[in-house]
Amino acid sequence: MRDPKQLRSHRWFGPDDLRSFGHRSRLKGMGVDDEDYQNRPVIGILNTWSDLNTCHSHFKERVEEVKRGVYQAGGFPVEIPVMSLSEMLMKPTTMLYRNLLAMETEEVLRCHPVDAAVLMGGCDKTVPALLMGAISADIPSLFLPAGPMLKSYWRDVTLGSGTDAWKYWAERCAGNLCDSQWKEIETCIARSAGTCMTMGTASTMACIAEALGFALPKASSIPAVVAEHSRLAVASGRMAVELAWNQTRPSTILSQGSFTNAIVTQLAIAGSTNAIVHVIAMARRAGFPVTLDDYDQWSRRVPVLANLRPSGKYLMEDFHLAGGLPALWSELQDLLDVSTKQIDGRTLNDSIQEAITVDRDVIRPRNQPLYEHGGTCVLRGNLAPDGCVIKSSASAQNLLVHRGPAVVFENYADLKRRINDPSLDVTADSVLVLKNGGPLGAPGFPEWGMLPIPEKLLKQGVRDMVRISDARMSGTSYGTCVLHISPESGAGGPLAWVQSGDAIELDVPGRRIHLDVSEEELQRRKDAWQAPAPHATRGYLKLYAEHVTQAHLGCDFDFLEGSDPGREPDIF
Ligand code: FES
Repeated sequence: MRDPKQLRSHRWFGPDDLRSFGHRSRLKGMGVDDEDYQNRPVIGILNTWSDLNTCHSHFKERVEEVKRGVYQAGGFPVEIPVMSLSEMLMKPTTMLYRNLLAMETEEVLRCHPVDAAVLMGGCDKTVPALLMGAISADIPSLFLPAGPMLKSYWRDVTLGSGTDAWKYWAERCAGNLCDSQWKEIETCIARSAGTCMTMGTASTMACIAEALGFALPKASSIPAVVAEHSRLAVASGRMAVELAWNQTRPSTILSQGSFTNAIVTQLAIAGSTNAIVHVIAMARRAGFPVTLDDYDQWSRRVPVLANLRPSGKYLMEDFHLAGGLPALWSELQDLLDVSTKQIDGRTLNDSIQEAITVDRDVIRPRNQPLYEHGGTCVLRGNLAPDGCVIKSSASAQNLLVHRGPAVVFENYADLKRRINDPSLDVTADSVLVLKNGGPLGAPGFPEWGMLPIPEKLLKQGVRDMVRISDARMSGTSYGTCVLHISPESGAGGPLAWVQSGDAIELDVPGRRIHLDVSEEELQRRKDAWQAPAPHATRGYLKLYAEHVTQAHLGCDFDFLEGSDPGREPDIF
């Protein structure tokens, strides 16, 4: 389609009527002439920049580079700021606001004269939020990932964001690191603009965006501040103009196979458990239902090949130089749907054919996996009838089959108050249990799932324990942490009935989690359970509490699931 009259923006700017007169005259008031935009695709650049989002601090430069690409290809770029979800600085958790940005994205795309969009995101929840909105609006869209930070160093030690913060914090609590050493680490653990450079949630979601076909080849791993990333931004601008002319919509590229590729990719990179929730939510928007059963089935077959922290050794910069996703996919062709479409009109197979694997220790060959299969597992049992997850590749292998007495914390405040109490009745064999960390209970489904090891155990040399919650955990975290228990305790799930001293059995190879308490006693506790008072009676929190779904369903708002591709605003 190269007929400008077929462009969506033509409805705003083309007609000879009073309303279009108003649209054109106001653009002229900004110094924009007809020649700048008439008969050209208008490309909306949704920018999640903010002074408080450290991961996107280079977006002011990148957005100008995207515009350059749009101009080169004959389009007209318009920058549209949208909510910035800053993982580090937003409280209580960005997950509380993922659906708000998704809703904003969908409506901002729909209500403006936009023919295609470049979605600029990267920090954790910005990725699924932007994609969920674009899927529901079904307007041609391409994702430009922020890119990971450069590798960091402390003295001669390589530091990975998040992962090494947890690691050295534990050493500090154990008395093995002095204040000045800790301060040195604070100074150098974030070396540049960009997202966390471990295989945390941001890197995982960028890889998933590329696997779904929303980003240009290898875009997910290009470091944020290298020249290649600037060129990616320019190329993304150019590509968006093509999307507008070709009408390449999310519904054009997405298929059941795309979501299979997303799942296989996530498992092979030992990606963040958070991505399970986001992939399920995106799939439900797109009309290709993905369930925990899909993850369970694929996790039994997909090897972990990316040797990246927190499961492995290296960082995203190493992964990129080793060949990035195409190199990883070249090892997994029998598990992928290589016929799926990508945003540039090619197939996954085309990307694979161009793959070059440079470092076989970073991207392992199929016969030398980091983890043979089951790097991330779905568990069920009487504690989690609708499922829960564990990243077994980042767990202590000797704890994957374990039975121990529960040490229960009713909520996060209770945890903070008692976890380091010297009189806490806890040993290395205990199972730490946190309630009220789920979508409703917290609220917002925060990353509390890597419960801290009690200081008295840290000093004894304990570095991992079985921990169970209905919360999430940061993708940069590690440990034997059972997460996303569904239904959550705040909604009356069985986790709410656990008491300190109860025996809990974890059997990851058997995919089972069990609370060893009689049926009669559990029923008695269930009957006595009282729902907590609502966290809010007005505003966004009320909307959230009334409509958020449980973890196994993706935590979307029930009324946002699906898409609305035909809905266009009336222009009067
Ligand atoms: Fe933004 Fe980790 S804090 S990606």
